Amino acid sequence: MAMNEQIVILDFGSQYTQVIARRIRECSVYSTILRYDTPAKEIAALKPSGIILSGGPSSVYAEDAPLPAKGIFELGVPMLGICYGLQVLAQFMGGKVERGQKREYGKGLLTIKENSCALFKDLPTSFQVWNSHGDKLTKLPTGFAPVAVTENSDYAAIEHCRKKMFGLQFHPEVVHTPRGKEIISNFVHTICGCGRNWTMRSYVDQAVEEIRAQVGKERVILGLSGGVDSSVAAALLHKAIGDQLTCIFVNNGVLRGREEKAVQDLFGSHFKMKLQTENASKIFLSKLKGVTDPERKRKIIGRTFIEVFQAATKRAGKAMFLAQGTLYPDVIESVPIAGNPAAMIKSHHNVGGLPKKMKFQLVEPLKCLFKDEVRQLGLELGLPKEIVFRQPFPGPGLAVRILGEVTPQRCEILRNADTIVVEEMKASGWYYKIWQSFAVLLPVRSVGVMGDERTYEYTIAIRAVESQDGMTADWVKLPYDLLEKLSSRIINEVKGVNRCVFDITSKPPGTIEWE
Ligand code: XMP
Repeated sequence: MAMNEQIVILDFGSQYTQVIARRIRECSVYSTILRYDTPAKEIAALKPSGIILSGGPSSVYAEDAPLPAKGIFELGVPMLGICYGLQVLAQFMGGKVERGQKREYGKGLLTIKENSCALFKDLPTSFQVWNSHGDKLTKLPTGFAPVAVTENSDYAAIEHCRKKMFGLQFHPEVVHTPRGKEIISNFVHTICGCGRNWTMRSYVDQAVEEIRAQVGKERVILGLSGGVDSSVAAALLHKAIGDQLTCIFVNNGVLRGREEKAVQDLFGSHFKMKLQTENASKIFLSKLKGVTDPERKRKIIGRTFIEVFQAATKRAGKAMFLAQGTLYPDVIESVPIAGNPAAMIKSHHNVGGLPKKMKFQLVEPLKCLFKDEVRQLGLELGLPKEIVFRQPFPGPGLAVRILGEVTPQRCEILRNADTIVVEEMKASGWYYKIWQSFAVLLPVRSVGVMGDERTYEYTIAIRAVESQDGMTADWVKLPYDLLEKLSSRIINEVKGVNRCVFDITSKPPGTIEWE
């Protein structure tokens, strides 16, 4: 994306690199993450207003330490090194980094010694910061001055005023440094001189222009799942190219209740998009017949989706482009340094991906956005809150929430139970506060009594989890009266269920889905 103003972040493998990028964007300034060894020429070509060197798990004095191109220190652009980034900056400028006597980890108290430092403008002289480092700077590079200290570090913040180079030994990007956002804002606004031009309102105009320029008069096809990303991509493309866009919605038979109707109402009737609905429930369910292995279910659903979608694109008529709701975290070239979770997330769960051999050119209008920006964009485009803030739903749908064989009858039971969970979570205000909440069907029967009769029916497990990114999760302590309501409604209203349990497993060791 062509940007007038941006901050470049060089990634040395920190688990917080993307957090730095997001914090900058929260300051309404665009940010781009590049590999630590990106050539200086390439960086210069982007005309960055500033460069940030991220943290990372390595030691600068190690033989295989990731180091940046030397040329970046001569670009004359303001620079901020964070943690490992400070050590890189200091070492290149002639300082000395050594293994510390004591690892500094967790909360610390920062005391500012040099009040004129622009990085700490309008901040108190002392505040809490978050540390996570073993190495420390033992000799300042020439021309640098110490600006702030912590209990354990004389060089917790350093600056070279004239060169506009700064280093922080702590992490300003994490929530445990409560005033960190102001430090980042001082860097991008006061030091780098950036305005506040990056907003979703201005992005809409720019993206619309770029989509039109890319697509011309050609037609575009988009697989619309009803999830946040494809919905926002659809709304953006529709704004840009109207009827040149055809959305294809595939009902795979393992969707939540009323999903097909909701998509038709919103995108077909309300937005008046060209929407092609493929009801392929029967095909999917017949292929899933007798299958109990979770990974086989996933493969069958993934493969069948591709077949159905390919056939649907043929019916949709000739199109040159295929649009996808790819997000920024999917395209950042992650640095494969030990312990960088971003490197792992990518390969996780890519069911529903389309084969490369499909002869389309790609349009990916969200590929420079983070998830929270996509939600903002969705609101800007007039999508309802129910879509923009909806919880994630797995590609293989209810099939991984029905343990054992997926049958039409079990789908019906789970769909009815799930509808109640969603309704009650929304009514109680919990739905939008947490990562996911849903019902799982356990195909074990147990005995109960209803009225005067003995029953012998299935069990529904209720799962509610809190998470940042799905990689780790805690179960949510839902109030007893809500659990009671869920249980009594599910058992009374859903035929085929006579018992309800609540899942109190965290991830790890459990997973969020049951299969
Ligand atoms: P787990 O169960 O691995 O889930 O703890 C982590 C997150 O990923 C979602 N999930 C999937 N999403 N296809 C998807 O598109 C899948 O096969 C799949 N399996 C799990 C899950 O809902 C949770 O948000």
